Parts: sequence; C-alpha cells; structure tokens
Amino acid sequence: MSYKLTVNGQPKTVDVHPDTPLLWVIRDVLNLHGTKYGCGMALCGCCTVHLNGEAVRSCTTPISKAAGMHVTTVEGLSADGSHPVQVAWQDLDVPQCGYCQAGQMMSASALLAKNPHPTDADIDSAMDGNICRCGTYLRIRKAVHKAAEIAAKQTKEPAAAVHS
Ligand code: FES
Ligand code: FES
Repeated sequence: MSYKLTVNGQPKTVDVHPDTPLLWVIRDVLNLHGTKYGCGMALCGCCTVHLNGEAVRSCTTPISKAAGMHVTTVEGLSADGSHPVQVAWQDLDVPQCGYCQAGQMMSASALLAKNPHPTDADIDSAMDGNICRCGTYLRIRKAVHKAAEIAAKQTKEPAAAVHS
C-alpha cells in the first residue's frame, strides 16, 4: 500500500505492507541510517524518533499508524549540528560506542520541547526506556541540563539583538 508522511520536513510517499515497522521504512526505504535497531520489541529505545513531536519506538510503530504524520529522525534535529541537544552531546562527549545515542537524543529533545527546564527526576523518568550498554547515563543527564541552558540562551539572544 501507498502511505504519505512527512519526514524531517520533506513529504514522502512509501509503498510498503501496512505492518511494516516505521524503523524499516526510515532505514531501508528512505535510507536514513541514524535511527538504530536494537531489540525490535520497544525495550531498548535505540530506534526512538518523533511522531508529531512525541518520542515513539519506531520498531513497533507500523507505517499504517504513522501515515499522514510528521516524523523526525536524528538527522532532522538540525542539518548543521546546531540543535541544543546536538551541541550539548558534542560538548560533553556523551557517546561511548554511540549505538544508543540517536535514540537518547530523540528522547532528550522530545522532553526539552515539552519541559524546557527538567529536573534530574524529570530527565530520569523521560529517559527511562533508553538503555545504554556503555553506561553513559550520568553524561546524558548532564547533557540534557546543558542542552536546556543552550536552548534558553538561543531563545534569549534574538530578543537581545532586537534591543541592542
Ligand atoms: S529497537 Fe526499538 S526499542 Fe529497541
Ligand atoms: S554509548 Fe554504547 S550503548 Fe550507549
């Protein structure tokens, strides 16, 4: 069947079986390989993307549910690495092997979009389903706080420029 969806701001039409997981549409049909496969059972968070702004596990989301919606993958956070989460992750050298990190960044960015100043408890709760075998959890928590600071600065700066 044919499905229309918007991926990272671009309209796409894909021709796949209705049960095809969004993950395989993203990776195999659209050739966006930043989103990773881990467990295939919504248990690890590696495959996290945004569906209309919500963090979802793309491995267990059939394309039929994503039809007509806006999908954002890690490639869609920003083209130039300027998204606060990308900047913070790089500044703090968060990844170790890196495999889980696209999913971590997508969960973190969905959290910050809703809650610009999360507490440690908010972060731990939002990131709970994202497993990191390398144990980078403390750096992730620090990076989410740093991304929140960067985002706050980015929103203040244009206002400051207007008044200068
Ligand atoms: S691959 Fe989707 S949650 Fe593990
Ligand atoms: S950085 Fe290796 S699994 Fe998370």
